Amino acid sequence: MAKRRAAPVLAAVLLCLSAAAARKCNLQGLWKNQLGSNMTLSALDAEGTFTGSYHTAVADTNKRILVSPLRGAQQPGTKGQATFGFTVQWQFTDSVTAFVGQCFVDHRGKETLETTWLLREEVPTRRDSWKATRIGTNTFTRVKG
Ligand code: BTN
Repeated sequence: MAKRRAAPVLAAVLLCLSAAAARKCNLQGLWKNQLGSNMTLSALDAEGTFTGSYHTAVADTNKRILVSPLRGAQQPGTKGQATFGFTVQWQFTDSVTAFVGQCFVDHRGKETLETTWLLREEVPTRRDSWKATRIGTNTFTRVKG
């Protein structure tokens, strides 16, 4: 009796595991982070490089925020949860941000990009270099539609 009940449960578990393993993260599309910034990533080319655009919700300037270009590369990995990096060249101020991260996909297929960023602003002299770099983390989720 116990054996008869265990078989379908085991089959369902195996089905779930194989479905989860089959889900691969896909960087292409529209993403939003916890600050409200949006970015659009293009499809990867044959080398795993991509382009895109970044609309930051926050900035360390009073100038008008402009949508800025990004360029990046993905390392496909072997577990379907790729690592990647990209830089954003801000079009409205003298700084650049480099992001590195990993794309995770859960058992329901929900994708999350966990990233760490370094922002370098231009400072007038080497003596000011100590204060020119900021670091932080951003979590992006896919914007549906
Ligand atoms: C600047 O203020 O120098 C340019 C804009 C920087 C926006 C930063 S990049 C890291 C963090 N994540 C965001 O979405 N925006 C801020």
